Amino acid sequence: MTRIESILEARGRLLGRNLSIAYEKPLNIVRGEMQYLFDDEGRRYLDAYNNVAHVGHCHPKVVAAGQAQMALLNTNTRYLNDLIIRYAERLTATLPEPLSVCYFVNSGSEANELALRLARAHTKARDLIVLEHAYHGNTTTLIDISPYKHDGPGGDGPPAWVYKAPLPATKDDAQIVANLTTRLKPLCGFIAESMPSVAGQIILPDGYLKSVYDAVRAAGGVCIADEVQTGLGRIGTHFWAFEKYGVVPDIVVLGKPIGNGHPIGAVITTPDIAESFDNGMEFFSTFGGNNVSCAIGQAVLQAVQEEKLQSHARQVGEHLLSGLRDLQQRHEIIRDVRGSGLFLGVELRNGNAPATREANSIVNRMCEHGILFGTDGPSHNVLKIRPPMPFSIEDADLLISTLAETLFVLFRGPSRD
Ligand SMILES: Cc1ncc(COP(=O)(O)O)c(C=O)c1O
Repeated sequence: MTRIESILEARGRLLGRNLSIAYEKPLNIVRGEMQYLFDDEGRRYLDAYNNVAHVGHCHPKVVAAGQAQMALLNTNTRYLNDLIIRYAERLTATLPEPLSVCYFVNSGSEANELALRLARAHTKARDLIVLEHAYHGNTTTLIDISPYKHDGPGGDGPPAWVYKAPLPATKDDAQIVANLTTRLKPLCGFIAESMPSVAGQIILPDGYLKSVYDAVRAAGGVCIADEVQTGLGRIGTHFWAFEKYGVVPDIVVLGKPIGNGHPIGAVITTPDIAESFDNGMEFFSTFGGNNVSCAIGQAVLQAVQEEKLQSHARQVGEHLLSGLRDLQQRHEIIRDVRGSGLFLGVELRNGNAPATREANSIVNRMCEHGILFGTDGPSHNVLKIRPPMPFSIEDADLLISTLAETLFVLFRGPSRD
């Protein structure tokens, strides 16, 4: 049995079977360094997929901050300690007023759960509007508000308090949400990723979110922005993706990249909502806001800012977009190239049909060539490109030339040449 075969056998025996495994030839990844991952044979892969390692896999300053704090103290928020204050100050300094009150938890799922509790405490209502194909996390309630899961295999559909709005094609689709809000009184709120990622790396039409937020607030609801995938400068033009649309949410949910791989989630809200939530029931998370997490969170924010990763993402993203659009001119299978900064999607279609099988072939072939991609979208026909932020112009060129060769080998025709 090869090493890979024995790990696969042990996984099948010891771990829940509904964990998926990336790539037809699974990778045994043993080390990470910035935008690269290394397998057990020392082969280097360019990581164009893992957004969690935001400032780079094992970024030395983040590792050092975590190690130093772990050697000094790691305890909970019931003791006073400056670290959590400094981290909260640094985090809220990146957000517009009145988003100024933080809660720290351990994952994006926990953060979304808490966001729902805040929204319910503030509005005393339950009915929630979500976007089609959205994913907000793995808990029971979050599956309830995640059409990507409850409408998919093994799902039971939405519960009675969840209402689904279609992914907008134009800003006028905000009217669909507005119509829903008139039916749903009392309304708890609206939750959406500022750029729906699992739905296929979508940029919302200009003006859509503003009209939706206005309608939701007019009906007494609160607006929750899930920035788990889109925040921290990834989209290049703005630090948080909601800023692109000129809106300010009532509750912002953070996860994945803010710990660069260390499990941190955060919810930031307004003093008004925080006051409604302070209803006598203590909020406590054993690990949320612990000293090590705060040291790491702060080091991540510092790295984003000191290394100017937002403007870097903008520059490299524009370069990638132009290379991908060139490929689109030559390959009919590329229906759309979209995104912002290092949050990009390449939608593949055969005529009107989603090119799911072809997307899968591309991802596997790119992996064989040492470049890690993933797919997303309801039909898994969108190539998802969201690398660690140090991803460079040279990396982008390698990605484009490898993708060009892959497309040529797999689908020589039909071409638009
Ligand atoms: C948009 C979004 N929200 C929330 C979550 C849940 O985060 P976690 O897996 O850290 O619980 C995810 C995870 O993929 C996500 O993509």
